[in-house]
Amino acid sequence: MQSILERNIVLLVIAVVLTIAVGGLVEVVPLFTTKNTIEKVDGMRPYSPLELMGRNIYVREGCYLCHSQMVRPFRDEAERYGHYSLAAESMYDHPFQWGSERTGPDLARVGGKYSNAWHRAHLIDPRSVVPESIMPPYAFLAKNDLYYTDVKAHLRTLKTLGVPYTDAMIANAVKDLRSQANPDGDNSDTDALEKRYPKAVLGDFDGNPKKISELDAVISYLQMLGTLVDFTTYKPELTPAR
Ligand code: HEC
Repeated sequence: MQSILERNIVLLVIAVVLTIAVGGLVEVVPLFTTKNTIEKVDGMRPYSPLELMGRNIYVREGCYLCHSQMVRPFRDEAERYGHYSLAAESMYDHPFQWGSERTGPDLARVGGKYSNAWHRAHLIDPRSVVPESIMPPYAFLAKNDLYYTDVKAHLRTLKTLGVPYTDAMIANAVKDLRSQANPDGDNSDTDALEKRYPKAVLGDFDGNPKKISELDAVISYLQMLGTLVDFTTYKPELTPAR
């Protein structure tokens, strides 16, 4: 059989195609039998307007070139970073930030790990809090005013991609953004914000109540990463066969 195949190029090509086709089917067909490749989990919600603008800056600055956002399902990762990432946790991400390079640590669960003040000091001058750090400083984020006049358009665009922003979320985007970055401000309505975006972290993140800076937005984003799903009550939908 082998000698026939090796001497007949047409037969060999057919055999190769067949082998690859079977290999491909074995991988793909089982997926058709699962109800859903992204299981539903409680707690997931779209990004608040301030978090979203912070995320846009994260993408703009290329933070993903050094930081992944995916805790892989291995023991060493789970012990260092917490529960492995669920598909549902990045279902509203366009584009996703899983990354493949870890010059710095994974950030998928960095939310709540440090104080706002730590993030502020770290982003302005990483070596002020981690002397051996090789992360570049991002002090300009504190100086730049956050540009958010177009925040509604960002929400609307994501809605066309399937992110469940409601009309109320879109209509109140600017107000929600200001309420989150300046909860003590005159027109802030933090109750409405927290109803629309449960667990949103409020605060004057950059330490300057007079302006909403790019640093405010980035820190609000970092502080919510990986905090939406409550893993004390989470049960996987598909428990592996034993
Ligand atoms: C050149 C690679 C590089 C880039 C780009 C980079 N970082 Fe880092 N980052 C690191 C390294 C290395 C560390 C670990 C040392 C430290 O804490 O500073 C780190 C640590 C961090 C931590 C602390 C994580 C933890 O669990 O201790 C945060 C948060 C962070 N970076 C956010 C960012 C953000 C936001 C950006 C983009 C604005 C960014 N980084 C860009 C390399 C990078």
